[in-house]
Amino acid sequence: MHLSNGFITARAHTNIALIKYWGKKNDDLIIPNNNSLSLTLDEFYTDTSVKFSNELSKDSIFLDDVDISNSTKIVNFLDIIREKASISEYAYVKSYNNVPTSAGLASSASGFAALAAAASKAAGLQLTSKELSKLARRGSGSATRSIFGGFAEWIKGNTDNDSYGVEIENPVTMDINMIAVVLNDQPKKISSRVGMKRSVETSPYYNAWVKQCEVDLIKAKTAIKENDFNTLGKISESNAMRMHALTMSAEPAFMYFNNDSIQVINSVKTLRENGVECYFTMDAGPNVKIICKSKDIKKIKAALTKTFNDEQIVVSKPGCGVQFIN
Ligand code: PMV
Repeated sequence: MHLSNGFITARAHTNIALIKYWGKKNDDLIIPNNNSLSLTLDEFYTDTSVKFSNELSKDSIFLDDVDISNSTKIVNFLDIIREKASISEYAYVKSYNNVPTSAGLASSASGFAALAAAASKAAGLQLTSKELSKLARRGSGSATRSIFGGFAEWIKGNTDNDSYGVEIENPVTMDINMIAVVLNDQPKKISSRVGMKRSVETSPYYNAWVKQCEVDLIKAKTAIKENDFNTLGKISESNAMRMHALTMSAEPAFMYFNNDSIQVINSVKTLRENGVECYFTMDAGPNVKIICKSKDIKKIKAALTKTFNDEQIVVSKPGCGVQFIN
């Protein structure tokens, strides 16, 4: 599809949660049970262009030049925008995921944040960041935070109106980097949507998770304020493990770790024993993300390349919030 005039283009970066969102109290509106906190990354982003047109008889949606017009998730999301803007035209949507490899890191977070911004503006709406964040949330929970750069928090709220992201610190003052170790580019077997629902419904530890997240969040926010890298790293690592404990304690149990994930986790521990300050986090897939300071990137990469290829290791700095780029 050739981009002619009249398209609105937005760029949003993906984010990695340090305090995870895992479980909803409202599945339709995507209202979570706990607040979460993330770091937006500069390396991974999505560019999305949108134009509404009365020449279309259905939405025409392309992702990386592949026709995905049948995606009900995206069509439903566009319906929300049409309703808000009181328009009935269908949309041309052209989206590109910019990830360094075909990595399995292309996140729904950057995708729905970019789509929320581009489509709402193309529909004639002028939304504040807070309103954009609420809108992005309807596509994917983690997209709520990708409207913002640096450290962002998703305030859980109770309704469509009070569940949104806020900026905690941007630009980030802490020297913090994230090294993504790309271990698998297969689509995940159990989506985050299905996985979190099963954890909420069947893990006997679920209530403990919700309680613990409140404690973890306060510690993480204090660490950010005090520029305390080690405390932030430690709490992020334990929070990730607590989230994964909910998958292993669900019925039927499931897990996102594979053998390589365990190997990276062990490398992080060995590096730490040897004085390198680094910590790991993991989401709903086997890739491991390592949190580290700039001075240690070389050492960590050297340790990882003993087992993994260069292309599997992607270093990212904190990234900015959603922007319009045309
Ligand atoms: O927004 P979703 O449905 O892709 O869920 C994201 C879940 C985690 O990535 C595991 C945690 C988080 O807070 O991003």
